[in-house]
Amino acid sequence: MAGRTDEELREKILRLKDERNAVILSHNYQIEEVQDIADYVGDSLGLSRTAAQTDADVIVFCGVHFMAETASILCPDKTVLMPEINAGCPMADMITASQLRDFKLKHPGAPVVCYVNTTAEVKAESDVCCTSANAPKVIGHLDGTGEVIFVPDKYLAAYVSSKTGRRLVPWNGYCPVHVKILPEDLLRQKRAHPRAEMMVHPECTPEVIKLADRVLSTEGMCRHALESGAEEIIVGTEVGILHRLRKENPNKIFYPASEAAICPNMKLTTLERVLWSLEDMKDEVRVPEDIRRRALTAVNRMLEII
Ligand code: 13P
Ligand code: SF4
Repeated sequence: MAGRTDEELREKILRLKDERNAVILSHNYQIEEVQDIADYVGDSLGLSRTAAQTDADVIVFCGVHFMAETASILCPDKTVLMPEINAGCPMADMITASQLRDFKLKHPGAPVVCYVNTTAEVKAESDVCCTSANAPKVIGHLDGTGEVIFVPDKYLAAYVSSKTGRRLVPWNGYCPVHVKILPEDLLRQKRAHPRAEMMVHPECTPEVIKLADRVLSTEGMCRHALESGAEEIIVGTEVGILHRLRKENPNKIFYPASEAAICPNMKLTTLERVLWSLEDMKDEVRVPEDIRRRALTAVNRMLEII
């Protein structure tokens, strides 16, 4: 296997993809080569929607485990493959279904909103799912004015609460990558590039969010970069997104808020692994049917809102 050039790998991947009637989906944080071979590159919401609509038989999911699981929840008749099955999301693993059941007992009657960065089992215990792109909208659609359980991201919860005025009871979870972006990083970049606009992801801490001009999902950042009149933009999220931003906006300059914001799990998927997964049809992600059906209710409620 050694010695294959990227070009050879790409050719083989494209040939096998046709043979298997497969589609390759990539999150915005994947390595450049993987983003470039994908049929679709996007955020969690866009990836879910694309998975739901594809007529391919096989989905090769280049991202982290909860994303492939969401595709499998939406498309039980398709084969969902992860080129690197060990690519998890530490934030998604910060709450289990049994912890959520206990939490619900402490807040009887409160609706449960889960961030898409959760396991299928946690989604199955939730009323409705949301992503970074639609969280305020999903909360806005809930009946009543009482408290809402929001899991697992306490920082996303704080942001959504400030946007909607709704009282959220957060789980104590967070993204270990986005907390590495510090207010002083933004201030330093702003001093170095005073004309630059600042956009950050809502998984950042409230102190970081306070300094930003825009708070956006990764796809929202890509859209905004195309539309913005700013020629320089400071980007407060995982650094993998810079590849797409620079490719789509060759005349604009993008600065990472912090070079430390690297999600190691997102970097585990390589071109070689994409090829192996198509060759061996591995590793398949499949959610047990009883959990899948309950999780699907929460995911579909979200997709109906937006
Ligand atoms: P997006 O849905 O905005 O791409 O975010 C996913 C994620 O895991 C961010 O860390
Ligand atoms: Fe999970 Fe954070 Fe990595 Fe996103 S960046 S996949 S939330 S650990």
